[in-house]
Amino acid sequence: MKILAGVIGMGIGEKHVHAIENYNLSKVLIICEKNKNKLKYLKKKYPKKIITDNENLIFKNPSINLVSIASYDNFHFNQILKCFINNKNFIVEKPMCLTLSQLKKINSLLKKNKKVKMISNLVLRTNSLFNYFKSNINRKDIFYIEADYLWGRIYKLFQWRSKVLNYSLTLGAGIHMIDLIIWLINEKPMKVYCTGNDISTKNTKFKKKSFLIYILKFKKNLIVKISVNATAPHDHFHSIKIYQKNKTLINSLKGKYVINRSGKLNIIKNIKKDYPDKKNRKKLIRSFIDYLLNKKNKSPISHKEQIDLMSVCFFAEKSLKQNKELKISYLK
Ligand SMILES: NC(=O)c1ccc[n+]([C@@H]2O[C@H](COP(=O)([O-])OP(=O)(O)OC[C@H]3O[C@@H](n4cnc5c(N)ncnc54)[C@H](O)[C@@H]3O)[C@@H](O)[C@H]2O)c1
Repeated sequence: MKILAGVIGMGIGEKHVHAIENYNLSKVLIICEKNKNKLKYLKKKYPKKIITDNENLIFKNPSINLVSIASYDNFHFNQILKCFINNKNFIVEKPMCLTLSQLKKINSLLKKNKKVKMISNLVLRTNSLFNYFKSNINRKDIFYIEADYLWGRIYKLFQWRSKVLNYSLTLGAGIHMIDLIIWLINEKPMKVYCTGNDISTKNTKFKKKSFLIYILKFKKNLIVKISVNATAPHDHFHSIKIYQKNKTLINSLKGKYVINRSGKLNIIKNIKKDYPDKKNRKKLIRSFIDYLLNKKNKSPISHKEQIDLMSVCFFAEKSLKQNKELKISYLK
């Protein structure tokens, strides 16, 4: 078997092309892009590929066995439905959908059609520093985690993100940090409270909250605070502090540290692991390809994990609307 792919949307989708092309003999056969100017440029850049604005050329092509969905968020759900109708495995950019009822539909389709495999591009899991954190924490000693997503890309809010009806920074950005925490401690939250404001985007095209903060509660009273700060003048940055009884792990603009308590002393050590470590981001798509090719017996992220993550996000949205802490129910 060989992977023959079609990619939809050539923003971040171009990174998908680079991750797929030539990996274990995989090929991208078709690129779909609806921006006319980009189409011209893509035809020049990829003369051997089919370049089109008609996504159905991908879905109806019997040789295609992997579809990469990197279109705007509002197109993901329908494109996922087409993957199921046509039995195509798919990579979908986050968020896979924009409403809870769409999520329920995807969940039931995944259960009915076991042949179709899905992966969401939750790239922080491939980061060397965060993998170091994962193997150097002790869940039972952690009492608090603080994680701030400093987006540093305010201009992006005023492009398609201002136009998509159900766009939210929880589904578009917070999702990465929520996933990172769930993956780091290998546990799902039981409760969520979310609040936010739009102080820095009032009177702009972006009508949603541009600052969000979440309190997630886990078993044994572990508390996690996450924020999404879309507008601050700042580098694009995933700041995280993990507080354990005798140890603190930090990724901050100043550096990456582990602080160990030794008697009365706090001993600070630099961590020599890469962040943001973008070179490793291809790894997620590539290990999904290995799984499709039966070179790995497990997908890098299970369907259940991906669906549960979306449930946390939808409960966070509901909490924001109702301004109260909610118990999260996960889909069966
Ligand atoms: N995993 C990540 O870290 C990450 C990072 C950035 C964006 N994303 C996600 O990727 C998706 C695209 O975002 P982006 O930043 O690349 O946006 P972008 O505006 O930079 O690029 C999107 C491209 O897709 C094209 N497009 C959109 N809908 C299309 C459709 N239905 N058919 C064909 N072409 C279509 C647009 O014309 C545009 O060229 C979003 O869902 C976003 O949330 C994920």
